[in-house]
Amino acid sequence: MAVEKTGQRAAIPTVTLHDGTTMPRLGMGTWHLAEGRRPERQELAALQAGLDAGITLIDTAEMYADGRAESLVGHAIAGRDRSQLFLVSKVYPHNAGRAHLRRSLEASLKRLGTDYLDMYLLHWRGSVPLVETVECMEQAKADGLIRNWGVSNFDTDDMRELFGVPGGDDCAVNQDLYHLGSRGVEFDLLPWMDAHNVPLMAYCPLAQAGTLRDGLLDSLAVRDIATAHNVEPMQVLLAFVLRRPDTIAIPCSGSAGHVLDNLKALDIALGKDELAALDDAFPAPTSKEPLDME
Ligand SMILES: NC(=O)c1ccc[n+]([C@@H]2O[C@H](COP(=O)([O-])OP(=O)(O)OC[C@H]3O[C@@H](n4cnc5c(N)ncnc54)[C@H](OP(=O)(O)O)[C@@H]3O)[C@@H](O)[C@H]2O)c1
Repeated sequence: MAVEKTGQRAAIPTVTLHDGTTMPRLGMGTWHLAEGRRPERQELAALQAGLDAGITLIDTAEMYADGRAESLVGHAIAGRDRSQLFLVSKVYPHNAGRAHLRRSLEASLKRLGTDYLDMYLLHWRGSVPLVETVECMEQAKADGLIRNWGVSNFDTDDMRELFGVPGGDDCAVNQDLYHLGSRGVEFDLLPWMDAHNVPLMAYCPLAQAGTLRDGLLDSLAVRDIATAHNVEPMQVLLAFVLRRPDTIAIPCSGSAGHVLDNLKALDIALGKDELAALDDAFPAPTSKEPLDME
């Protein structure tokens, strides 16, 4: 994986979805943006810096900042070539049925200032039967409002159940928490997804700036690799997630500098010894673990 240097647009690698369309493997998350944690113009500049640098995938949700994250994204993409963007949003579980999905979707589209989503995800499982959510997703797809749909926070049993309902195997991705310090999905979920051609969208790929796992950023293994590649530990965490060919990472940042720094992860091909050192420090699971969530 190579990224062109400063001032040029990065060549973002892609994954091919089951319908033959491609999806970028590095995007920008938006959770906690537009919540007033910092000036909105700074967050807007961060998203725009990413877009200018060639990051075209943006992950958002109706939940984030009560829709204001979607509005921020709408602002960031205004005037850009829609066909070059890959927009992902998510529906609340309680809205994921016949009564509300269409209304939620249309509200998301309006806030984003677009007439379709590239990917629409069920944010997590709720009480609406999967068969009903799938039916609504398929209808939205048939109506041209979404190009593809997927799920989030689904474990192996959930995926098996989903693939058992009519149309359930049309699920294009599963978005789950995955980072060097939380590797439980490697035990049986990722092998199942690989076997069924369902790419992973890895959320919290930076372990929320290392805060989700003690010792992650201080780890000697991570620091040594960062030094060797002349990057910060954060980009090593990202390179670890991106080492899997069918995985999409969506780090979030409200800082333009951090967004651009994260692109450097695309240049890091972790060697065998480096991966072994990371495995020693943060071992792969040897048995089933509960799905980690944020
Ligand atoms: N489906 C779900 O249930 C679910 C759950 C959680 C998240 N998500 C999605 O996944 C995205 C990513 O997860 P996340 O935002 O929770 O966590 P994350 O991407 O692992 O970490 C975000 C944190 O990392 C910091 N950061 C980013 N780049 C950095 C850099 N180069 N150097 C130093 N700090 C850096 C950010 O601070 P700065 O802003 O200061 O850079 C922010 O505090 C979310 O935004 C959201 O779109 C989905």
